[in-house]
Amino acid sequence: MKPSGQIFTFPQGFLWGTATSAHQVEGNNYHSDWWAWEQQGRRSEDKKSGVACNQWFLYPQDFQLSRELGHNAHRFSMEWAKIEPEEGHFDQAVLDHYCKVLESLAENKLVPFVTLHHFTNPQWFVAKGGWEKRENIDFFLRYVEKTIEALGQQVIFWLTLNEPIIFAAQGWIFSKWPPEKRSLLLAKRVYDNQIYAHNEAYKIIHQSPNGGNRARVGVAHNYLRIVPRYGLADRLMAKFLSYVWNYYFLNQAAQNLDFIGVNYYQTNVVHRDVQFPYYRIFSTDADITDLGWKITPVGLYEGLLRLNKRYHKPIYITENGLADTQDTKRAKFIYDHLTAVSHALEDGVDVRGYFHWSLIDNFEWAEGFAPRFGLVEVDYKTQKRTPRPSAYYYEKICRTNSLIPVPSSNIP
Ligand code: FCB
Repeated sequence: MKPSGQIFTFPQGFLWGTATSAHQVEGNNYHSDWWAWEQQGRRSEDKKSGVACNQWFLYPQDFQLSRELGHNAHRFSMEWAKIEPEEGHFDQAVLDHYCKVLESLAENKLVPFVTLHHFTNPQWFVAKGGWEKRENIDFFLRYVEKTIEALGQQVIFWLTLNEPIIFAAQGWIFSKWPPEKRSLLLAKRVYDNQIYAHNEAYKIIHQSPNGGNRARVGVAHNYLRIVPRYGLADRLMAKFLSYVWNYYFLNQAAQNLDFIGVNYYQTNVVHRDVQFPYYRIFSTDADITDLGWKITPVGLYEGLLRLNKRYHKPIYITENGLADTQDTKRAKFIYDHLTAVSHALEDGVDVRGYFHWSLIDNFEWAEGFAPRFGLVEVDYKTQKRTPRPSAYYYEKICRTNSLIPVPSSNIP
C-alpha cells in the first residue's frame, strides 16, 4: 500500500488510450450481418448504426483529438465485412483506407492496437453458417492472412477476437444479437470455434513476414466478476460460470498469447432460479451506470490477480468504461478502476496499458445510440465532438503517467 498522500506513478512506457470498434463508429457497414439485422424493420432509427460517428471519414480529426487529450495509444478494429465484402474478393481500396488510418495514428504518435474481429461478420460468411461450423474458420484465417500481409508492417499489437464469450452468449444463448438463437450446443460450438480461430490466427500472424517475431498477439477477453448471492448451490454455480466465462477460453489459448487484453465492466450476482439461464442478476449496494451495470472496481483488481496467477502474461486493459450521459460518474469511475490497477501493479501484476471505452459516444449494439460511453460527446446531427469534463481529467492522468485524484470540479 502507498503511504497516504503519495500519488501512484505507473510504470514507464505505460500505454494510455481509448478503444472503439469499426461497426460502432465508422458507419455504413452495409455488408455486415449486423447491418442486415438492423434493417429488419423491428428496430427504431436510433437503433440502426447508419453512419454512426462517421469515423470512416473523420478519423484524422478524432486521432488528433486523442493526441490533444494526451493519449499515446489507440485501439480500434478492422472490419472484415468491408475488407472482404464478397467471398474471396478483398477490396484493395478498403485495405488502403486502413493503411491511411494507421498512418494517421503514427502521425499522432498513437500506438495502434488492432482488433481483427469485433462481433461483426460479412453476410456471405454468415450465410454459410458462420462461426457455427469449424470448416468456415478457414475463411476467417484467410482474411487474417490477407490483412497481415497488407498492413502488418504498421502494426505490432494485434487482438484476434473481441470478447468471444459475449459474442457466443449474446447471439446463441440470450438471443439478443444476431443470429438470435437459443442453443447451448451451438453456443459452445461457436465458443470452441473461436478458440480454434484464435490459436490458428496467432500462428498465421507470427508466420507472416509482415508479422513475424515483432508482432504481439492477444485476445480482448471479457472478465466478469461473478459472485454468489447465498448458499452452496449459488457458490457452485458462480464457480462454474466463472470458469466458463473467465477461464475456459484462455486455458485453451494460453500457449498462443503474447499478452492478455482485459475488458472489464461489472459484477454479476448469481442466484438459483427455476428459469433458464439459471442465473439472474440481483442488485447490490454498488452504484450503477446508465445501463444498470454495477460499478465494482474491486472486480478489476481481483481479475488482474487471478489472470496473472493462472497465465503469467503481460496484461493490457483493452476496455473499461461506462454509460454516463451526465458525465457525473466517469472521472471517479476512472480513478477507482485505475486505483485497482495500481494495487495489482504493486502486487506484481504486469499491467502495461489502459484503454478507456470509449473515445467518443458510439453505437452500442442492441441498445443503439442512447448509451453515452464517450469521454467525448458526439452530436449525431452535426457529428460535432465535444470533450466532456472527464476527458480532461483522464488527460491529466495520461500526461503525468500517474494517478491524479479526481478534482472537486469533476464531482457533482
Ligand atoms: C463491450 C464491447 C464493446 C462495447 C462495450 C460497452 O462488451 O466489447 O464493443 O460495446 O462493451
